[in-house]
Amino acid sequence: MLSTSLLLLSTALAFAIPLDPAQHPFLPSSSLSSPPPLDLQNATRLPLTLGVMSLCPDARLCESVMDRVFEQTTSVAVREAGGERGGGGKVRVGELVDLRVEFIASRNSSAPYGTTCKHGDRECRGNVQQLCAERYWGAESAWEFIQCLNYDPNARVGNERAARECGRLIGRDWTKQLQQCVEGEEGRKLARQSAKRLSKLRVEKSCSILVRGEVVCIHDSTWQRCPSGHEVGDFKRLIEREWERENGRGR
Ligand SMILES: *[C@@H]1O[C@H](CO)[C@@H](O)[C@H](O)[C@H]1NC(C)=O
Ligand SMILES: *[C@@H]1O[C@H](CO)[C@@H](O)[C@H](O)[C@H]1NC(C)=O
Repeated sequence: MLSTSLLLLSTALAFAIPLDPAQHPFLPSSSLSSPPPLDLQNATRLPLTLGVMSLCPDARLCESVMDRVFEQTTSVAVREAGGERGGGGKVRVGELVDLRVEFIASRNSSAPYGTTCKHGDRECRGNVQQLCAERYWGAESAWEFIQCLNYDPNARVGNERAARECGRLIGRDWTKQLQQCVEGEEGRKLARQSAKRLSKLRVEKSCSILVRGEVVCIHDSTWQRCPSGHEVGDFKRLIEREWERENGRGR
């Protein structure tokens, strides 16, 4: 309940405050000092990972903050005319990243979902549902799916009916193949591989935010180890700066 009201409060605050406080308060945004935007089309996406446990309130909070970050428009990239989505459109921060949501758990081949999870088997099932959604729908739809489940995680995460309803809400079918993925060896394998990637990176806290495999911020009851900040605007600037570096432009 507390985390719900905090989340609502932070959402309300985010809408009350201008989302992107001027980066250069004394310069117009088209200042000569800022380099021209890069073409999105041939750019490399910045690897961004969230290490979570699907039933953890910290995961829900991080995912909600990152969703607001991804919705921001960015001026570091442009979509040139002739691009597959047409030219001249605004580029969102979400288009700069290659997002992976990975799940913290201990690998356990005798457990029903291939792992043992801090919040029980329902969390393991929730992790597997999200991994299977990513596998069959792609990262973008899986992200929308997660946002839908997070609306009421205690009722929805790990619940098959909720998975179907959230799928329908985002225009995707929760197919037989997906359900087989969740219940079969495929889902167990995805869960074990995801847990293994995180343990190699020594990620143990939900939620951990990583850029190129390096932790840049953690929310574990409170924000911790976030040298670049933890507000929506801070994450936006961090992603823009690292995306530019990824594409050969240091700042
Ligand atoms: C992007 O890549 C395509 C295919 O490799 C190439 O034809 C095009 O010139 C590139 N555009 C830019 C702006 O570099
Ligand atoms: C592995 O999973 C089984 C079945 O859920 C469980 O009984 C056992 O305690 C788990 N082992 C570890 C080390 O978590």
